[in-house]
Amino acid sequence: MEAVKVSENVYWVGVNDRKLELFENLWPLPYGVAYNSYIIDDEKVTLIDTVEEGQLNQYMKEIKEIIGDNRGIDYLIVNHMEPDHSGLIEALVKEFPNIKLVGNKKTIEMMESFFGITNNTYEVKEGDVIDLGKHRLKFYTTPMVHWPESMVAYEETEKMLFSSDAFGSFGTLDGGIFDDEVELDFFEGEMRRYYSNIVGKYGGAVQRAFTKLKDLDIKRICPSHGPIWRSYPEKVLELYDKWSKYEGEEGVVIVYGTMYGNTAKIAESIGRAITQKGIKNVKIYDASKTHSSFIISDIWKYKGLIIGSSTYDATLFPPVESLISKLQNKGIKNKIVGIFGTYGWSGGSLKKLKEFVNSIDCQLAYKPLDIKHSPNESAINECIKLAEDLVNRLRK
Ligand code: FEO
Repeated sequence: MEAVKVSENVYWVGVNDRKLELFENLWPLPYGVAYNSYIIDDEKVTLIDTVEEGQLNQYMKEIKEIIGDNRGIDYLIVNHMEPDHSGLIEALVKEFPNIKLVGNKKTIEMMESFFGITNNTYEVKEGDVIDLGKHRLKFYTTPMVHWPESMVAYEETEKMLFSSDAFGSFGTLDGGIFDDEVELDFFEGEMRRYYSNIVGKYGGAVQRAFTKLKDLDIKRICPSHGPIWRSYPEKVLELYDKWSKYEGEEGVVIVYGTMYGNTAKIAESIGRAITQKGIKNVKIYDASKTHSSFIISDIWKYKGLIIGSSTYDATLFPPVESLISKLQNKGIKNKIVGIFGTYGWSGGSLKKLKEFVNSIDCQLAYKPLDIKHSPNESAINECIKLAEDLVNRLRK
């Protein structure tokens, strides 16, 4: 794709990646991902971040389209050192030997330890400004959104925030680059998946960044992934505020692990009972089938969560074990959680589910249920009570 104008002298020079299967070699990319980079074509030509390493040819072509073959780049702003954005720093230094690499103290340390780069670095501190001519970039550190060196750059003349990972989403930019050119529901979902999978553990850090940036007049948000927010920036600010406070909507995710379908029957009964109490947003997932990336995203969206697991080798069914380990790692909290285990002879899954609930800052609905073999009438009645109690708590 050609370079796209974000404003008179600011260009998007991003690339789409439809080849990569797993982001961070972990999270599926069925809809691909875009790596966004930007050029400010001013007296000082400035590039904001780079893209992933494998995208060199396309990226360089887009840059040269704007600056031509005889001009250089004065500054590369390194907002974030994760390889999806820092992947072409070395290539840029080779192509533009006089380029100044702008980062904070931690960025500069990382550039040395990742790439052995020590020359032509330019350290900025909190609130420092670089004057580019008509444009002025002011820097704010945003540690742990998503790495310790993460920072954002606010362009004061046009009131644009180059926000790095914050407000980014999975999904390639298939023609549409701006929020008013794309299907917003799709990108809201993929933004929540990016947030919950990648940044979710650091909700406190996101809230601290909000406090720091709250007085800025932001007309456009230019993130490092996904669409540029020029028409609805307030929408993404609101979503990020909600997600980083772990505030869920009215709705329930029911996720189960089953070998032969008996645990699934229980999940279905609970789902039905919740719906009969008037909750429309109920999502039931089989942990063996749906990748945890998508389940975690929906868990972030809704306030209610029910987890059921059959017993396998006297402990949790492995896909459920993997999911709850990720949830613990992400610091999931502020949910209303119901749990049930099933077993054939010795039991074991419920003990682990109880340990999980005790380890997170969430409210337990009703009581843990342990069910032998297939659910009988009395077990189903208990499941209905669990569903009713969870709905009552959701509505308090
Ligand atoms: Fe898109 Fe933390 O990198």
